[in-house]
Formats: sequence, structure tokens, C-alpha cells
Amino acid sequence: MQAMTRETEGSAFLRACRGEPVPYTPVWFMRQAGRSLPEYRRVREGIGMLESCRRPELVCEITLQPVRRHRVDAAILFSDIVVPVAAAGVELDIVPGTGPVIAEPVRTAADVERLRPIDGADVSYVDEAVRLLVKELGPTPLIGFAGAPFTLASYLVEGGPSRTHAKTKAFMYQAPQVWHALCARLAEITLAFLRVQVAAGVSAVQLFDSWAGALSERDYRRFVLPHSSHVLSSLADAGVPRIHFGVGTAPLLTAMGEAGADVVGVDWRTPLDQAAGRVGGRAVQGNLDPCVVFAPWDVIEDEVRRVLADGRSAPGHVFNLGHGVLPETDAEVLTRIVDLVHTASAR
Ligand code: CP3
Repeated sequence: MQAMTRETEGSAFLRACRGEPVPYTPVWFMRQAGRSLPEYRRVREGIGMLESCRRPELVCEITLQPVRRHRVDAAILFSDIVVPVAAAGVELDIVPGTGPVIAEPVRTAADVERLRPIDGADVSYVDEAVRLLVKELGPTPLIGFAGAPFTLASYLVEGGPSRTHAKTKAFMYQAPQVWHALCARLAEITLAFLRVQVAAGVSAVQLFDSWAGALSERDYRRFVLPHSSHVLSSLADAGVPRIHFGVGTAPLLTAMGEAGADVVGVDWRTPLDQAAGRVGGRAVQGNLDPCVVFAPWDVIEDEVRRVLADGRSAPGHVFNLGHGVLPETDAEVLTRIVDLVHTASAR
């Protein structure tokens, strides 16, 4: 409700999320704040990832860097999906080149019981960072985010990143009730984390279920959808668009839309015109292959134009990569892509 009166309201990004007419297709990049930027590497020197997420002024600076450099249409809060889990007392680290590593993986009902809820006081640095950012950003919307229960559960159960998610799936099949209890707790943590961000002034939220594509549609619907749906539907009255994203989700796009998203994020494997047909009249976000940035410019240009053309099949299109910016990406290429998206889509 609070969002309805803010100066970000008329932005191309929010209009596209709502399927309203836009002057040009808005663009931002997942992981736009990160190692592709020399200014990011400079300010992060000697400061651990989790520690960086807990310093509001540093979070503010890092979040603004890609907005200044690329003139993207939205900022995304610099944080990580495991920040609220760490705030809930789980001992973990984010290891460069690997990702989150959990000291004691969650494998039993007793482990699940130990996962406590969080409130605003546990993540007061996030509240502070968002308030600083909203002031600094003016008309540019700030996207808040959190990890979805399945992707968080996968890190907690595996103890770190996994290619097969074998332990996670074994847990799911062997102890479905305990699995649901775990996801229910994670859903409450995620919801509390997103509510802090909404109350502090973010203009949209993205729920990252990055690894949901490891599941069949049947298992997704049984084991995951009720929990993601609880998170997204509980935010229905927050007045901000809800983006729901995963990788390798071609068979899940319809179900992910049903989970309560306003916008469905699509990876590079599914053309946006096909995706638009599967997400039930919702807006789409994506989906340039993050590796296309390494191609010669004429190839990049063709691909950007194709993504824009495919995106016209949906009521709204937010241009993005199909997954995060790779650290080896040349930041100057990203800036050129932003300019091209804006000029090629101008109506
Ligand atoms: O610009 C943005 O998109 C905002 C920042 C952001 C980060 N993590 C910063 C980060 C966001 C939205 C995330 C979410 C996140 N974290 C996801 C979901 C998005 C996705 O990529 O699917 C996942 C799965 C994680 C878990 C995680 N954290 C991974 C896999 C890694 C990479 C490990 C590595 O070093 O390759 C991290 C660490 C991380 N999170 C970095 C950044 C910028 C790199 C750490 C560093 O710069 O030292």
C-alpha cells in the first residue's frame, strides 16, 4: 500500500512487472553487483561475503555500483540467500568459488527443530541498508529478494552446493513429514526476511528457487509448491510485484506461476514466447544466456534483439540474463547491452 505513493511507481520496471505499457523494455541483471565490477572487487577487499552483507553502508555502495555504471532500470539489494538462515542461528560460511557451506547439515527431525524463526531485530542491518538505498536511488526501484524453501533446504541438507541434490531428494522421499516441517520453517524465515525488506521500502521482491529445476513437476507440486506458495501468497497484500525465478525450470513454469508470482523468471533454455504461453498471462523476466556476453558484438546484438522479440508475446517483459552475471564478464559489454535494450525496444 505504502508502495502506491512512491516515486518509483511510474518506472518502466514496475510497469512491465504489472503488464502495463512501457516506453522501453526495462533491464537489470541478476548478480549485477559482483565480481564482474572492478569497483566491487576493490570495496570487498579483505571483507568476507557474510560480513559485507551486515554492513549497511557497504551494502548501499555495492548495490548502487551497477546502477551508476550500467544505468540499469532496477537495483537489487546486495545480500545473499543464506543471510536469513545465518540470522536464524545456522553456522555457515560463503566460500569464494564454492558458495554457501553449512557447518552441520540438517539431516534429522531434531536438526529441523533447532531452526528458529527470525524477526526484524535479527536482520536490522537489512532494514537499515534498504532505507539508505531507497533514499539514494530516488526513482530507481530497489528489488528485495530471498531464497525459496527448496533451494535453501538443498544447501542446508547437502551442506553445500550439489549437482544432483541427492541427499535433499533422499530426505524428501524418506521422511516427507520432516521435509515438510523443514520447508515450513524455511518459508517462515524467508517470509520474515522479505517482510523486513518490504516494510523498509523495496519496490518488488524476487524469490530465487535457483535449484527447483532439479525436480520433476510432480515432485515440485508435492514437495515444494505449497511452501513457495505460502511465501508468495502471504505477500499478496504488500503492494509490490513478486518475481519467481529458477534455473532449468521449463517443465515447472506453469506451476511456478501458480505459486503466486506476478512475474516468472525464465532461464535461457526456454524462449520467452514459449514461456509466456506457460505462465498463465503473467509477465516474464529474462533470458539472455549469461555466456552470450563472451560472443562477438554482432552475435550479442542478434541475441538481444531475439530475446526482445520473444518477450513481446508476454503482457510484460523485464529483460535480464537467464541466470546470474558470470564473474569473468566484461562489465563494458553489460553496459552496451543495457543501451541496446533501451534503444531497440523504444516505442
Ligand atoms: O546482484 C545481485 O544479484 C544481488 C546479490 C546476490 C548475491 N547472491 C550476491 C553474492 C543475490 C541475489 C544472491 C542470491 C544467491 N546466492 C542465490 C540465488 C541466485 C542464483 O544465483 O541462483 C544463490 C544460489 C546463492 C548462493 C551463493 N552465494 C552462491 C552460489 C555464491 C557464489 C559462490 C562463488 O564465489 O562463486 C554465493 C556468493 C555470492 N553471493 C557472491 C555474490 C556477489 C560472490 C561472493 C564474492 O563476491 O566474494
